[in-house]
Amino acid sequence: MQKRTLIQAALVAAALAGTGAAMAQDAFKIGLILPMTGPQASTGRQIEAAARLYMAQNGDTVAGRKVQLIIKDDVATPDQTRRHAQDLIVNDKVNVIAGFGVTPAALAAAPLATQSKTPLVVMAAATSSITEASPYIVRSSFTLPQASVALADWVPKNGIKTVVTLVSDYGPGLDAEKFFKDRFTFNGGKVVESLRVPMRNPDFAPFLQKVRDLKPDALFVFVPSGAGSAVMKQFLERGMDKAGIKLIGTGDVTDDDQLNDMGDGALGVVTAHHYSADHNSAMNKKFVDAFGKANKGMRPNFMAVGGYDGMHIIYQALKATQGKGNGDQLLAAMKGQIFESPRGKIFIDAQTRDIVQDIYLRKVEKKNGQLYNVEFDVIKDVKDPGKTK
Ligand code: DHB
Repeated sequence: MQKRTLIQAALVAAALAGTGAAMAQDAFKIGLILPMTGPQASTGRQIEAAARLYMAQNGDTVAGRKVQLIIKDDVATPDQTRRHAQDLIVNDKVNVIAGFGVTPAALAAAPLATQSKTPLVVMAAATSSITEASPYIVRSSFTLPQASVALADWVPKNGIKTVVTLVSDYGPGLDAEKFFKDRFTFNGGKVVESLRVPMRNPDFAPFLQKVRDLKPDALFVFVPSGAGSAVMKQFLERGMDKAGIKLIGTGDVTDDDQLNDMGDGALGVVTAHHYSADHNSAMNKKFVDAFGKANKGMRPNFMAVGGYDGMHIIYQALKATQGKGNGDQLLAAMKGQIFESPRGKIFIDAQTRDIVQDIYLRKVEKKNGQLYNVEFDVIKDVKDPGKTK
């Protein structure tokens, strides 16, 4: 019987699969650790969607190996990140770990990457020092110093002399505060006060009241992805804009995931960042369109582009090692990659394993009835200013 023949053939194939020849057929596993629930859930949602889009567009077999994504929700909590990383490396025997929605998550997994020689691709977290926590870390997102320094060069040339900074009180916020302040001061500006809000469940109201009393020319803000609309709402409710205080910041505050729901009060806000869904390139238009089609009209944000490019880095490394690379060989193949991303050209610096990219100055404008971060200037090939080496 035909059916029995097929089953027998499958059994013979399965028996042969016990040998080394079939080992190469094993799936190439990518463990994606992301905040899928909790306050950072939009980061997980955006990165998962981008990774799946990348695979849909580029196939799920690379150099003869099936690529498998294993997604774990760490709720952006470092204890859970560590547990998932351990489990993925030891039990699932993943080839790469990736994702990492917040800095403490990336730092929690770093020692495990080093011990097991597993490449770790940071697709979201953005504190400068992360790449120094393990020689196995490669970053496809950005760093806060990249965006903050670019903004601190633009601000004093545009009539802003005094600034209050307001940042989330942890790694990326402290980087944003320091690198903005140092450069702005160097450029002749004055930071009159530096305020820090708790990372979890922040109440911006008392801080914004204080800013109103200090009446600087501008308020510089860094909050992680997902918190921008709360800042914007309270900024407007307190009439800060009417009191003549401008809102400026890294692009996290006018996050494309939320921007369109912020209302016209967001118009005119100037930020510096590496990605806008409005970026004018053929590749980006295709990316935004395909991302929307696959996700009920969702607009990709800067987290999505970090996920999409992180997958490209992994795919290219898998190709370069003919599907057989171990952790060290994959890592070597990730270093020095240069390619076009939806954000523009990017480069993985072989020395630092960090991303080198263009940083754009953008202003919130309305286009076809929708709010976008419209790019109006660019600083090319920005290395992380936070690197001492
Ligand atoms: C980090 C998280 C964010 O959501 C963001 O926008 C920037 C940095 C972080 O924890 O590193």
